[in-house]
Amino acid sequence: MSTIRIAIDGPSGAGKSTLARSIAEKLGYLYVDTGAIYRTLGYHIYAKGLNPKDGTAVSAELPGLRVEMSHGRDGLQRMLLNGQDVTERIRLPEVSMYASAVSAHPSVRTYLLEMQRALARTHNVIMDGRDIGTVVLPDAEVKVFLTASPETRAHRRMLELEDRGTPEPYEKVLADIQKRDWDDSHRAVAPLRQAEDAVVLDTTALNFRESEEALLRIIRERT
Ligand code: C5P
Repeated sequence: MSTIRIAIDGPSGAGKSTLARSIAEKLGYLYVDTGAIYRTLGYHIYAKGLNPKDGTAVSAELPGLRVEMSHGRDGLQRMLLNGQDVTERIRLPEVSMYASAVSAHPSVRTYLLEMQRALARTHNVIMDGRDIGTVVLPDAEVKVFLTASPETRAHRRMLELEDRGTPEPYEKVLADIQKRDWDDSHRAVAPLRQAEDAVVLDTTALNFRESEEALLRIIRERT
């Protein structure tokens, strides 16, 4: 059976996961949040008190790790680290920076690549991340580069953190987003960049419904 693959890449806070989850539900596809996979590894390094920039130390952890993903009936993706459910913990703001730092190591990307590809071989997927259209699924039927201004993304992220009960000031959220944008797009391996054949969707001036309609239109034109 050949599957349909929709790749959604873009910087943090562009609304990728909220939009992708909602569209996956509408289309009956599996939603795969690849950021959560990097966060799970970042969380492990954080919890062990290791330096996430130390490639040798991070690589040494990989053979003993079990990173697994499960999808419940509600379509929600849960992350397991050595059998323990870490779905909520990986959303802590400090884990974001750890995820970004560990994801720059080639050993980490290789370790997680097959897990992501395997899901797309067995399911119709909407997968979101930074390198889905460029590295993970270069032959995806649909590729979208979802973006918005840093200020808009910081504002949305701030509301999301408030909702989760872990509020942070706007200036800090904006500074974190700008730092992660820079780190994610300047790393040597699989940097955040738009695939040549991706459609760009800028949601700065769009609300959720409008963004969703625009994204569905792009998908319908190509599948
Ligand atoms: O998407 P999210 O903000 O949860 O991702 C956390 C971090 O994981 C990102 O800042 C990025 O460095 C890394 N990541 C990645 N490749 C992906 C998805 C996420 O490098 N496909």
